[in-house]
Amino acid sequence: MRKRSSSPPFEDVLRGYISRRNFISGASALGAAAMLAACASRGGGNARSSLRFDELPHTPDGNLSVPSGYRSQVLVRWGDALVEGLAEFDPYRQSAAEQARRFGYNNDFVGFLPLPRSGNTSDHGLLVVNHEFTNTELMFPGSPEGTALTRDQALTDIAAHGLSVVEVKRVGRDWVVDKSSAYNRRVTPDTPMMLTGAAAGSARLTTLISADGVSTRGTFGNCSGGITPWGTVLTAEENVDGYFSGDYQATAEAENYARFGVQRRYKNWGEHFARWNLDHNPRELLHAGWVVEIDPYNPASTPKKRTALGRFKHEGCNVFINRDGRVVAYSGDDQAFEYMYKFVSKNTYQVNERAANLDLLQEGRLFVARFLQEGTVRWLPLEYGVGPLTQENGFHHPADVLLDTRKAADLLGATPMDRPEDIEVNPGNGRVYAMLTNNPARRPDQLDAANPRPHNSHGQIIELWPPDGDHSREEFRWDLFLLAGNPADTLTLYHPHTSERGWLSCPDNCTFDALGNLWIASDGAQAAGIADGLWATEVSGQYRALTKRFMRIPRGAEMCGPCFTPDGENLFCAVQHPAAGSTFAAPSTRWPDFNAAMPPRPAVVVTRKTGGGRVGS
Ligand code: FEO
Ligand code: CA
Ligand code: CA
Repeated sequence: MRKRSSSPPFEDVLRGYISRRNFISGASALGAAAMLAACASRGGGNARSSLRFDELPHTPDGNLSVPSGYRSQVLVRWGDALVEGLAEFDPYRQSAAEQARRFGYNNDFVGFLPLPRSGNTSDHGLLVVNHEFTNTELMFPGSPEGTALTRDQALTDIAAHGLSVVEVKRVGRDWVVDKSSAYNRRVTPDTPMMLTGAAAGSARLTTLISADGVSTRGTFGNCSGGITPWGTVLTAEENVDGYFSGDYQATAEAENYARFGVQRRYKNWGEHFARWNLDHNPRELLHAGWVVEIDPYNPASTPKKRTALGRFKHEGCNVFINRDGRVVAYSGDDQAFEYMYKFVSKNTYQVNERAANLDLLQEGRLFVARFLQEGTVRWLPLEYGVGPLTQENGFHHPADVLLDTRKAADLLGATPMDRPEDIEVNPGNGRVYAMLTNNPARRPDQLDAANPRPHNSHGQIIELWPPDGDHSREEFRWDLFLLAGNPADTLTLYHPHTSERGWLSCPDNCTFDALGNLWIASDGAQAAGIADGLWATEVSGQYRALTKRFMRIPRGAEMCGPCFTPDGENLFCAVQHPAAGSTFAAPSTRWPDFNAAMPPRPAVVVTRKTGGGRVGS
């Protein structure tokens, strides 16, 4: 990674910036009278923001809470049947065959796609939900480690990964799952898929399950994702390295695997099945770390891995139709000191010609971000044969740039970031918002303007925009949107009127409501002594970065997947790994069932105003 010097002391520079920023944002946005009024309301952030709910306190407990005037309903839980004819879920009688027809574990990304497809309905649609990983110690009686599963447990565990497609509808004030739906589908690590784009067919991608380097099977480690304007879902393969047994260093891909960040092994699937063992199937890990496109409206469709978007630990992937019709996709690589990427399609989006759009992500240009101190960010093209991406550096084919994306980005001098999570365009203002979750390993001599705090335990949010609105540009502007953490004990950047309940830590997933407000989900705030959950803020004007806590989730859990229906009246959220850190026999909460016979269950909840109306307003 590149190192930067920090003299004069970077913290002094940052403090100067924050103090100017607070003055400027207050003074420019407010007249003198309004400024005085705003000051009078200090600490009472509820008073003026267009986000009008009463903030919840931070204190963690075993339940999920939303502000008064709202109601949250548990819509679908791990183990719930997605087809008719299955018995009630019994955690003591699990099987792979049943798990493949039931909702999977650890729901992360949630997307709502209206039914019918061409409509804009907000009370009937498909939920597409990622199942990122499992906590086997909470999932199976006896609390086995993931590295100590029996063969049958491993098969069930495999079937609990991937995605679910679930038809849901609102009946009165309640949402229900339609178990009779022909759309309902589980996608698992065994589902037939295809590799597409320039890396497909590479000899490096021939494996035990793929003689041609084009066909493949399954997806896992699916963290966040996005919905395309043509009605498909992008699911991002993130932490895929821990699923493989064997000695990666003994393979011909050892250099790639080391740079990919192969870390702790989570699973012993490879002790039962050769596919998951690099000693027997040394290139299989090259089939993972991609963005996968799935058409939930066609249950028979074959999901496609989009190699044109590069291979790394994709947190998510969100697309934006540029004004020239090309598709721009943003994706973060979620590991400490990794990079932010964007893809620009070759072809253009055709309104009302869905078939023409279904392969827009097959071909285009990939870029990686370099942040400059003075508020400029450069998007550096990752192009085979250009600059250092040549044979001398081990790039022998366009496929190598896509398979070895991190190495290519290193050579171009991309900026190592504080763990990029969701990166999304706000449809309200066309600006890009990047959640950087934390990076305690960053040392004082590694600071830069976009990653300005050493030992960063709380993360930051960065705002980027092309000055003329053209997202294909290779130069954008950027600014810090906020620096998270508790203002009482660390250097932070929020609106000065952010309340004691409004600060947050470890931003992870995000979404925007119909007004363009930013909703921020956290993962890891419990380390800062507060419950994880969901916060909302306006992004511009006098209440920019005035974050307010909306939801609090059970202890041990991470907040994922915030997603609104088009009318903004229904908010879907995923509660992932409730009671993490405890065991099946003695969980720290039994949310959401609170039944002694049932372990805690990851679940998707839907939140509405009790009297109807837009959530947050
Ligand atoms: Fe799966 Fe980066 O969170
Ligand atoms: Ca995440
Ligand atoms: Ca996370």
